[in-house]
Amino acid sequence: MNETLQLIKERISTNHFDKTRKLSDDEIRELVEYAGQAPSSYNIQHWRFVAVASAEGKARLRALAYNQAKVEEAAVTFIVLGDLRGYDHMPEIAAAVVAAGQIDEKRAESWVTTSHKLYAGNEQFARDEAIRGASLAAMTLMIAAQAKGLSSGPMIGFDPVGVKQAFGIADRYLPVMLLTVGYPAPGNAGRKPRFGVDRILAFEQGSGFPS
Ligand SMILES: Cc1cc2nc3c(=O)[nH]c(=O)nc-3n(C[C@H](O)[C@H](O)[C@H](O)COP(=O)(O)O)c2cc1C
Repeated sequence: MNETLQLIKERISTNHFDKTRKLSDDEIRELVEYAGQAPSSYNIQHWRFVAVASAEGKARLRALAYNQAKVEEAAVTFIVLGDLRGYDHMPEIAAAVVAAGQIDEKRAESWVTTSHKLYAGNEQFARDEAIRGASLAAMTLMIAAQAKGLSSGPMIGFDPVGVKQAFGIADRYLPVMLLTVGYPAPGNAGRKPRFGVDRILAFEQGSGFPS
């Protein structure tokens, strides 16, 4: 099987990490660089990552994550954030695409105007987009980690308000998930069973998913 497809099939949400194996700052940076290759609406790149890798930081985070041991045992636990006002950065983002020769100034202006119209004043939609963007980046990071012989675990079991306070995260950022990454230890369960494709796929000529 193609290597990437195999990685997708092999990834598991890891519960047990080798506590003795750390990741360097450069290794953490590399993972986040891969995560940043994810797609996002208007290329807004809503994702931000707080890498919690110190013993003290991970202990603090574990206490805010229902005492889930993997938060502390993993080499790093990322707080994956979504920027609720990512569209504020559109002038800079569009200018970079112009500089890359991919769109002209007129189109860049239209990106800035239409994205602002879409998200400003529509809190729910901006929040949805922040979660979509951060989730795609988190998934990309999980695949990159797998490709590097690491294992990962996405987590929603944490106190987002407490995490924001404890780690000095501004209100414009929504904690979307925690993501543990490290070397796996023995004792992890296998991959969880999945619905078959016929359960999750409808071709459009049918009636979709009426219930
Ligand atoms: C958004 C999200 C939140 C999750 N939160 C937790 C969590 O707080 N604690 C936990 O042990 N597992 C958590 N999981 C892991 C899921 O239980 C796991 O992905 C699912 O059972 C499928 O297992 P697999 O990833 O090993 O195939 C979470 C997964 C996702 C995608």
